[in-house]
Amino acid sequence: MANMLEEYDHLLNIDPISQYLIEPIKAETLFTASNRKKESLNGEWNFSIDVYNTFYRKKFFNEVTKDSSGKEIPVDFDFNKWEKVKVPSNWNTEKERYFFYEGTAIYTRMFLYEANTENERVIIKIGASNYDSQIWLNKKLIGRHIGGYTPYSIDITNNLEKENRLTIVVNNQRKIEQIPSLNYDWKNYGGIFRDIEVFRVPVNYISDTFFYLSNVNNLDIINAEITLSGESISNQDISIIIKELDIYIKQKTDKQGKAIFSFPCNVQRWDFNNPKLYSIKISSNDDECYEEIGFRIIECKGKEIFLNGQKLFLKGVCVHEEEISKGKALNDDDRLKIIILAKEMGCNIIRLAHYPHSEHMAKLADELGVLLWEEIPVYWALMFENKETLFSAQNQMKELILRDRNRASVIIWGVGNENPDTEPRLNFMKKLINICKDLDSSRLVTAACLINIDSLKIEDRLSNYLDLISINEYYGWYYRDYSTLSTILERSKLDKPLLISETGADSKINYHGFDEELYTEEHQSKMYKKQIDISRNYIQGFFPWILIDFRSEIRMNNFQDFYNIKGLVDKDFKTKKLSYYLLKDEYKNL
Ligand code: GCU
Repeated sequence: MANMLEEYDHLLNIDPISQYLIEPIKAETLFTASNRKKESLNGEWNFSIDVYNTFYRKKFFNEVTKDSSGKEIPVDFDFNKWEKVKVPSNWNTEKERYFFYEGTAIYTRMFLYEANTENERVIIKIGASNYDSQIWLNKKLIGRHIGGYTPYSIDITNNLEKENRLTIVVNNQRKIEQIPSLNYDWKNYGGIFRDIEVFRVPVNYISDTFFYLSNVNNLDIINAEITLSGESISNQDISIIIKELDIYIKQKTDKQGKAIFSFPCNVQRWDFNNPKLYSIKISSNDDECYEEIGFRIIECKGKEIFLNGQKLFLKGVCVHEEEISKGKALNDDDRLKIIILAKEMGCNIIRLAHYPHSEHMAKLADELGVLLWEEIPVYWALMFENKETLFSAQNQMKELILRDRNRASVIIWGVGNENPDTEPRLNFMKKLINICKDLDSSRLVTAACLINIDSLKIEDRLSNYLDLISINEYYGWYYRDYSTLSTILERSKLDKPLLISETGADSKINYHGFDEELYTEEHQSKMYKKQIDISRNYIQGFFPWILIDFRSEIRMNNFQDFYNIKGLVDKDFKTKKLSYYLLKDEYKNL
């Protein structure tokens, strides 16, 4: 009977998949010291959607194409003859027939490997694949990652051969226990949509660096935490060289392979008008890597925000990571356009909603000088009492912070958006706030909260644990009566800075009419004028929702046609609406 069950496993096994959904990769293993020589696995991959998970049911990964006598047998896969898609990309924009596809897809390719140095370790790093990804190398399942927007890395040294088959199975189905859950207001693009890179490192290598500035008794102090990974990582020499500051400093690693530095310096502070970056070389006995670091200090005092000691009003705007011909697989030109649109409007900060955008966005923001709010998709209703849900949120938070905590432009970590003010959610979010503070004491933490529309007050209990109180409100759109906003702001007694983290209204591009007519550009523009006039004396930051119209399957009226059209600019990244110009004007006087 056993033979029968084995032979017909693909027919008789009701659940052949769960056994491959192994323990997900933990953020703590993320290789972040990746500013060094690398090889790319971007390019043409063989691809197929896999609607019934046949890759697992029929064990395609074993690549059996002959029977025990060596005769060719019919199989239902053709790795090397499948269609080609480019990586990084979203399958939705690669082929018309995949536009609305949600499910499993298989990416596979061959690559050659030959060691450069004896005992080298080889690490693969995937920038992001949405959502549940299982990584196979030479017929072996070597890892699984949960989360659609954060990087993960795997040491593949022990599984490498001269000729290698790398296969990544990606499932972007929305599931109730996931982060985000089943319902959200952006398109669920699937696929491997950020870079895949390979690094060769020595047995003992620098796996993470973290730099931040503090100020003690008016003296600027550079703090650094350098982490080694490998076989013998304690009592190793770590040196930091910042030539421009004439800094050459050395430290030994502790038992955990960590070297902690704290030394006075005379730095030129980074800010969005003067984005000064310092080139830093970090080396250990056997390894070296580089960082481009901006040194700045962001802090709150009472109800005010300060950047490098100067009072700061956050002239913001929200953006999704999307360009409609590429989905979420933006290139640097797209990112540059977004930053230029924001800066030309007079923004000093961009809220990268509602999930981690590409790390290239933060690097570009560091170079061009714009502040960033980065967040994870703890969005709307979630299973706050489910342990997998909590793991996923915590892991994505850690992956985001470990990836971007060297980016001067990032000043805010966002732990959630429009979640209900319940006990389970409060406990869940407090854990996320603790992760932010444990991994990075140098930034501010917030969450875009909802107003209590019963009491007409800003009193989300989570605010007690945040550095900045942020609220999403749509008075003038979902709620037509602006006077309620005045009541709320007047009634809410707050002791911390208040940000309007979202407000907006739909407007169809080039649809004009009387400013009381919904969906006209005139109505959207009037809404912003009223919003700013009412709120300017109560807030320290304003974030219009949203810079650019974006795809969303929940927006189905005839103006929207599966787009959220609250943008200040059309989805073409070019055509600006009246509101863009109004806000540009208003930001001159905020
Ligand atoms: C919410 C939500 C956004 C959404 C917006 C809207 O505030 O945070 O993700 O797109 O409202 O209604 O357009």
